[in-house]
Amino acid sequence: MRARVAVIGAGVMGHGIAQAFAASGSETTLIDTHAGALRTALVRIRQNLSTLVGLEVMSAAQARSALGRISVTTRLSEGVAGADFVQETIPEDLRLKRSLFASLSELPERAIIASNAATIPISRLAASMKARRRMIGAHWIGPPHIVPVVEVIPSKWTAPVVTRRTREILTGAGKVPVVCADIPGKIILRIQFAMLNEAIHLLDIGAASAQDIDTAVRLSTGLRLPVFGPLRQSDFVSTHGNTLKGLRFLYGATGDKKYRPSKRLAGMVKKGEQGIWTGKGWYAYSEDYETLARRRDRVLVRLLSMLGKIGDRGINRPLHGKRNRSAARGGG
Ligand SMILES: NC(=O)c1ccc[n+]([C@@H]2O[C@H](COP(=O)([O-])OP(=O)(O)OC[C@H]3O[C@@H](n4cnc5c(N)ncnc54)[C@H](O)[C@@H]3O)[C@@H](O)[C@H]2O)c1
Repeated sequence: MRARVAVIGAGVMGHGIAQAFAASGSETTLIDTHAGALRTALVRIRQNLSTLVGLEVMSAAQARSALGRISVTTRLSEGVAGADFVQETIPEDLRLKRSLFASLSELPERAIIASNAATIPISRLAASMKARRRMIGAHWIGPPHIVPVVEVIPSKWTAPVVTRRTREILTGAGKVPVVCADIPGKIILRIQFAMLNEAIHLLDIGAASAQDIDTAVRLSTGLRLPVFGPLRQSDFVSTHGNTLKGLRFLYGATGDKKYRPSKRLAGMVKKGEQGIWTGKGWYAYSEDYETLARRRDRVLVRLLSMLGKIGDRGINRPLHGKRNRSAARGGG
């Protein structure tokens, strides 16, 4: 049976999160202190659903059912009553969130209380709560009705069963939960900001234009990222010995600490774990390079062809010099 969900805060994130739960079959209540925010949220949800219907991701009947599963209220106690999963998405303000969580402590034992806090540590939010064993971070990424990953952040008090159930509920909502320690920035913000900061630094030192930096990343690393995360990619791209040499070179040439190779990588090289080439790197491989590379290439070529078909929609430079016919017609 689908979890009954309450989403508190009907802003940029809240409306999309409510939509995701409702589209997957959960009765969902969207709560906001401002009636106007709830009205805007419903307008946005209708528009999102209509885009998905237009793209044939869901049928018009499914969109109508999803909308029918969403109710809205400005009354917190009414909105959270009977919920199995309460997802907070109010502004990033410690005092505001703490005061909300204090009032949620009286919810029945089975209700999980999840926060979408992006920078406030979950432990700081949970510290003053009576119900801190069932408090957890569930950090969605925008737009939440489309992006699959949700970071799940147990605090030091979160009961293991709450982490397990949160993962189940998110998976049931068609999401891909990843569990991360309660550290600043978690996984996604850290990696995203490391890359963004480096791109800005390249601009600062006049290494390339903004457009060339974006194109370089989008059509190389960016193309591979939907297939391989950074760790698996490094198992494939070269030996770890070469990666280590590369990092040592960059560290020596720039003196920048972010290139200092980790002891973990050096240790792996010492043990002869060179990635796919030796059957073990960050992952263990039972298949050889050729088999996996063939599979990788099929996906990469499909991705490239799909990007070519979709066209740049005016956002980026065209993928192949000029737009193909279907993109030029606005189709694809
Ligand atoms: N916007 C993003 O891309 C993004 C991404 C990841 C995480 N987050 C995090 O998600 C949270 C929400 O961000 P947002 O951008 O959706 O905020 P937002 O300002 O768009 O929406 C917040 C909503 O919460 C409502 N609200 C405020 N106090 C309330 C209360 N006590 N009870 C009920 N409703 C209340 C406001 O009226 C508003 O409609 C923040 O913690 C933010 O850091 C945002």
